[in-house]
Amino acid sequence: MKNDIEKILFDESKILKKVQDLGLRISEDYKAKNPVLICILRGSVIFLSDLMKNISVPLEIDFFSLSSYGASTKSSGIVKIRKDIDTEITGRHVIVVEDIVDSGLTLKYIEEYLSKHNPSSIKICALLDKPKAHKTEIKIHYKGFEIGNEFVVGYGLDFAEKYRNLPYIGILKKEIYS
Ligand code: IMP
Ligand code: MG
Repeated sequence: MKNDIEKILFDESKILKKVQDLGLRISEDYKAKNPVLICILRGSVIFLSDLMKNISVPLEIDFFSLSSYGASTKSSGIVKIRKDIDTEITGRHVIVVEDIVDSGLTLKYIEEYLSKHNPSSIKICALLDKPKAHKTEIKIHYKGFEIGNEFVVGYGLDFAEKYRNLPYIGILKKEIYS
């Protein structure tokens, strides 16, 4: 897998430090709020598990899954629910945990969908953001790193379901997907 990586952007220790910062901020902001962390499958699983260990207030977790890119690096724009949340979030404080924001369309859809359940609040926590790729206005309350419009893998992020188990985040060589 390593030979397919053009460049390592964030190594394990850099990611962990950032995740600790995010966890600290969330712990401060959610005292006595018992937030529900909603992990967007599958790319956000490693991020969720590291993040929740670094949040010191009581919380709950749940999982939500939409149709994915398939073996493409471009968003299809088609959103279909594969797995809905099981938690009753009405009146709850929700934090959506997402690996990466590209066009922002996925998160926009998720925000609108979850809002229909009338939670007390919805905030977004995303490890990575591609600000130049946004196609809709999206507010990321807890953001890890900003990156350019390159395709990255590792730390949960995949290309065609591969590379999720790399412990770091790296840019995938163009020849792998073009
Ligand atoms: P958006 O709807 O265009 O913002 O797409 C967001 C989703 O696309 C993320 O949850 C990822 O699953 C996937 N995605 C976007 N960019 C990348 C990338 O660089 N590497 C891996 N997955 C990506
Ligand atoms: Mg994905």
